[in-house]
Amino acid sequence: DTKAITPPDIRFRKGQAPLVCLTAYTAPIAKLVDRHCDIVLVGDSVGMVLHGLSSTLGVTLDMMIMHGQAVRRGLKRALLVVDLPFGSYEEGPEQAFRNAARLMGEAGCAAVKIEGGENMAATIRFLTARGVPVMAHIGLTPQAVNTLGGYRLQGRGDDADRIRRDAASVTDAGAFSVVLEKVPEPLARRITAEIAIPTIGIGASPACDGQILVVDDLLGMFTDFRPKFVKRYAELGAGAEAAIAAYAADVRERRFPSAEHVYATASKAGEVA
Ligand code: KIV
Ligand code: NA
Repeated sequence: DTKAITPPDIRFRKGQAPLVCLTAYTAPIAKLVDRHCDIVLVGDSVGMVLHGLSSTLGVTLDMMIMHGQAVRRGLKRALLVVDLPFGSYEEGPEQAFRNAARLMGEAGCAAVKIEGGENMAATIRFLTARGVPVMAHIGLTPQAVNTLGGYRLQGRGDDADRIRRDAASVTDAGAFSVVLEKVPEPLARRITAEIAIPTIGIGASPACDGQILVVDDLLGMFTDFRPKFVKRYAELGAGAEAAIAAYAADVRERRFPSAEHVYATASKAGEVA
């Protein structure tokens, strides 16, 4: 089936097969992810994973638009969701709509993601009522790293009720799905049972309606740190380093370029290959 997946399709997948989601930031990776996933997220994690920022706070709307455009070109089927970055939506519903409309218009995404629960309910309602499908993001919200005091497990003890209220609020406000980040399994299970929209877990157990990971984490391309919830399916970073080291050694020893990579004569006039 090559019909593009829509936000309502995702919403109505609750209770069916698990939703498979990954981030992507570039066209070639988007092309691969598109063949296997339901949702492709251009996450603001792009700032840390590709741009070397130490948190997501420095990510700009222009960065999200540029990576959104690249990913859009690689997709045929998966739903494209793009993160609204820190500072682009928190002032209020009007600011959020203005910037969501830029993401949708310029990057061609069909939905946006914003971090927040009860505090963002009015914004989610405003956007949803005006043609902007919203994926919410609760539990650990990395844009709030400074108020949270780090990237710790969320929802311990009394804090569980806060996150349950956040889940109920974003559902009531019209979000079509919600990312649930870094919470204990019993809480994820309870929230997934309590709300009518799909929960997409990251560090939130298999009890969720779907899973998402940062693609560079699972590929072993981003290795600065490795949360417990990441499973490495490949070690492409190590593979890339070995390839670069081999190239450097070959150049130093004049083993590269070798005969097969050399234009030995000018006899084939006009050859460009
Ligand atoms: O920015 C991101 O990649 C995300 C996902 C990990 C949910 O928000
Ligand atoms: Na994000």
